Amino acid sequence: MIQYVDMKQEHVSQVSALEQLCFSHPWSENSVAAELDNPLSLWIVALEGDAVVGYVGSQTVLGEADMMNLAVVPLYRRKGVGAALVSCLIQRLKAAEVYSLTLEVRASNDGAKSLYHKLGFEQIGRRPNYYSGPKEDALILRKEWQL
Ligand SMILES: CC(C)(COP(=O)(O)OP(=O)(O)OC[C@H]1O[C@@H](n2cnc3c(N)ncnc32)[C@H](O)[C@@H]1OP(=O)(O)O)[C@@H](O)C(=O)NCCC(=O)NCCS
Repeated sequence: MIQYVDMKQEHVSQVSALEQLCFSHPWSENSVAAELDNPLSLWIVALEGDAVVGYVGSQTVLGEADMMNLAVVPLYRRKGVGAALVSCLIQRLKAAEVYSLTLEVRASNDGAKSLYHKLGFEQIGRRPNYYSGPKEDALILRKEWQL
């Protein structure tokens, strides 16, 4: 059974390894570890036993959260882990009186866009050439809720 828990020091190296696997400009292990000491940050990991099979990271300022990253181990994809991570994050943010979650996604990332739209995110903007390696626009998506 997969459990969704706050990221701890013991998860950092696995989260960092998944970052390297999934993104062209991954956060370093030190940057991920620093999130543990950042009072603005909330990172949640999906655990199968001791194995990290996914994670989501966020930072919140003045009641508005930004999603930093979301990734799921390839073998665990299309099993609901990504959606469960985002839903779990939103529940935790609501409990902390945060009222919105904003994120950027590559314009070509159809799988992630589909996941976010299913969860009620709406496009509110576009940043031209936001990403490099390869160069690509970012779509800005946001979801708000009543507290
Ligand atoms: C995007 C990602 C996190 C999705 O994780 P996941 O655990 O596979 O997502 P879920 O199983 O919860 O998917 C929920 C829904 O999202 C949509 N979806 C997810 N991945 C999809 C894909 N590759 N193609 C089409 N739709 C997809 C589907 O509607 C899916 O529901 P369904 O399986 O019942 O059809 C995962 O593919 C990943 O880690 N990708 C690489 C990193 C990345 O792109 N992160 C997002 C950065 S913004």
